[in-house]
Amino acid sequence: MNHVLFKLRQRREPQNLSSTLVGCSAILMLSIMFACLSSAYSMPMAAQTAEGNVAHGKDVYDKFCLKCHAPDQENEGPKLRGVFGSRAATISRFNYSEALKDSKITWDEKSLNRWLADPDGFIADTDMKSHVESAMDRNDIIAYLKTLK
Ligand code: HEC
Repeated sequence: MNHVLFKLRQRREPQNLSSTLVGCSAILMLSIMFACLSSAYSMPMAAQTAEGNVAHGKDVYDKFCLKCHAPDQENEGPKLRGVFGSRAATISRFNYSEALKDSKITWDEKSLNRWLADPDGFIADTDMKSHVESAMDRNDIIAYLKTLK
């Protein structure tokens, strides 16, 4: 009996060792994969919060702004291609309000954010009456507007 047991153990040992090795390398590979994945994902995520998510910005724009603002065509509102970085009421032949024409502001992140949050509060008597409640949506829309060059 003892002899058989010994033989069995002997036979198993190398097997155990190799399955331990397989287990170890699987864990190692998983942790390497995890490390790679998390570093790959954390970079764009950090960039996203700072600069806004362009794809989501376009979605929100298409839903809420497009009906008045085609990027390249006057509509109920002026076209908006090139608006980022430009002086208010200058990029289009749209019939802007005196209020916007007199505002002399330049469209950057800060002014666009205030404008989209509350157009009339930012520039009294403007003709734009729509606003965007969510700060994240505003940030993403602005990121999208920047791509309309
Ligand atoms: C119901 C129509 C309407 C909607 C919806 C609307 N706008 Fe406007 N927007 C206007 C009008 C009208 C003006 C011109 C305001 C003025 O002359 O006082 C304007 C002006 C602007 C300007 C200034 C353009 C320039 O040349 O100085 C920006 C930027 C702008 N809108 C962005 C947006 C964004 C982004 C959205 C979507 C979140 C949006 N608007 C939704 C009607 C609209």
